[in-house]
Amino acid sequence: MTSKSTFDVEDKYMAPFFVKQKISIERGEGVFVWDEEDNRYIDFTSGWGVTCIGHAQPVITEALTDQSRKILQNPNSGLTYSPARARLLELMHTVLPSHITHLFFSNSGAEANDAAIKLARKVTNRLDVISTHKSFHGRTISTASATGQATHREKFNPLMPNYLFVTYGDLDDLRQALNENVAAFILEPVQGEGGVIIPSKEYLTGAAKLCRENGTLLIADEVQTAFCRTGPMFVTGALDVKADFITMAKGIAGGFPFGAFAMTEEVAEKLEYGDHGGTYCGNPLGCAVAHAVIKYLLDHNVSENVARMGDICLDTMKEWQQLYPTLINEIRGAGLLLLIEFKDEEIATQVSDQCLAGKLFVRQTQGNGIRIFPALNINEDELREGLAIMQKAIESVIA
Ligand SMILES: Cc1ncc(COP(=O)(O)O)c(C=O)c1O
Repeated sequence: MTSKSTFDVEDKYMAPFFVKQKISIERGEGVFVWDEEDNRYIDFTSGWGVTCIGHAQPVITEALTDQSRKILQNPNSGLTYSPARARLLELMHTVLPSHITHLFFSNSGAEANDAAIKLARKVTNRLDVISTHKSFHGRTISTASATGQATHREKFNPLMPNYLFVTYGDLDDLRQALNENVAAFILEPVQGEGGVIIPSKEYLTGAAKLCRENGTLLIADEVQTAFCRTGPMFVTGALDVKADFITMAKGIAGGFPFGAFAMTEEVAEKLEYGDHGGTYCGNPLGCAVAHAVIKYLLDHNVSENVARMGDICLDTMKEWQQLYPTLINEIRGAGLLLLIEFKDEEIATQVSDQCLAGKLFVRQTQGNGIRIFPALNINEDELREGLAIMQKAIESVIA
């Protein structure tokens, strides 16, 4: 096919949910991707925080090939045992915070959050769920109900009942909202889609404490932050925030659709046969890939690379803030999850368009922000090449 014919087919047959960028991606390698005309681009979005160890990563190809030669899906699915699943469970156990003991698998982040909310209601025998303004938890009806952004909610009213919202970062607001009806508080340790909002450690640990005192389960939505995105394997683990559930997806299998939710012993003890399930949950193929990805993160000390590359990125963005004060409001970042907040949406759109013209993918977020979240194993040359394109884009907008 050519890009043109690909555009025509997708535009004709795909449901119109996305405003498309007219680029048809044929292949990738590391942080680079190529379109059908063989133009090379740098991907600073890692497919929305997913291809955490790069495109066409050989360890993923090997795991996919090896496992698919053996078995993709067990007879009777999760009713039978799988060595690939057992290997992943053992490895996950070494990286999860020590108070977290049990795991189950999903196919996406929304599905993991959905399950955690559902099970928190069962475990506490309560109905209400608190979430935060500007949060993002997914696009199923229950996770859209938990998402604190009008654009993802209003069109679908009436949503699920019993969802309440508090201000992110405000412990008093949470304290006032908690009562004996609240089953769960669902919280991102860094709000990603909300614009890379980084709360204090005190907020996260304080929220966990308030929840515990109220008999409310804390669901840490680490779908975007887990697996070294901000440096550590889990933000809540590194900060000793004792969540009752941790949900994850995106980076867990480096591009293969997979997710998981993990819980404490106390929660697991209150769950029983039939409370949850799913056809693909813990399928051997996904488990084998997730195992390969997590092993790579550990073996290559990717966490350290994230800290180094994140610092370079943040320092560069700080320089830009000094250089272009008329354009840039603020910069924020944790590890390799960063955002430049421009004065308005128009400027961010122009910068984003200029980046693409310079063959760099970035992600416009919350209108006036541009989010950068490249593969976690990006090297300094690749990072600086992308940043140079971005700086040129900003300067062209000034001009
Ligand atoms: C924090 C968070 N939770 C949940 C989701 C939904 O995950 P998925 O798109 O895999 O359903 C996302 C996706 O961006 C997310 O960032």
